[in-house]
Amino acid sequence: MKAVIFDLDGVITDTAEYHYLAWKSLADELGLPFDKEYNEKLKGVSRMESLELILALGDAEYTDEQKYQLADQKNELYKEMIKKVTPADLLPGIESLLKELKEAGILIALASASKNAPFILDRLEVTHYFDHVVDVTQIKNGKPDPEIFLTGAAELGVLPSDCVGVEDAEAGIESILSAGMYAVGVGTPAQMQKADLIVSSTSELSLDLLKSSHTNKV
Ligand code: BG6
Ligand code: MG
Repeated sequence: MKAVIFDLDGVITDTAEYHYLAWKSLADELGLPFDKEYNEKLKGVSRMESLELILALGDAEYTDEQKYQLADQKNELYKEMIKKVTPADLLPGIESLLKELKEAGILIALASASKNAPFILDRLEVTHYFDHVVDVTQIKNGKPDPEIFLTGAAELGVLPSDCVGVEDAEAGIESILSAGMYAVGVGTPAQMQKADLIVSSTSELSLDLLKSSHTNKV
């Protein structure tokens, strides 16, 4: 294992909940029956694709301009929520894992579909741990396509087979696996079915666990 490539929302911090709340507020306004179960489909998926999934719950037609306006409305609400993020919002064990990886000389990258990711890393005060943050605006194919994880590995200069990817979304696990990396899923076995290793909480993640699991798979 030479590198660990992390997802952000739901892995490093619980902003997955804020995304849900912001979409929920928009869906309520539009009278669409959006709930937590349906929200699983949105995890890891880009802003515009998430909006399309929500609008598919009803039968109203929207112009592209209206769609951009709705996506903007959700993002403005989301941005209000993430202004309050502090280092105390790091999920359990994440900072000690980042420290351990750094000390062991393992490279660290971020492969988040969120355009708000650099802002959130700064709010969490963990930007300095990352050797590379993939610029999602340059990614053509979102998760489950492997492009974002492959770009992360290429930018770090490591082979995909030497990387571990950590995700909380089904689309993200597929992205990691099709990139040819070892996939660690944070969540329930039902949500993380395809992952090579499943942990129910980020507090279970450690250098030893990631290294030994990766080695045993290879
Ligand atoms: C992903 C989230 O990390 O980023 C998705 O899991 C979100 O829920 C996507 O839609 C895009 O985020 P943003 O901040 O660019 O709207
Ligand atoms: Mg996520």
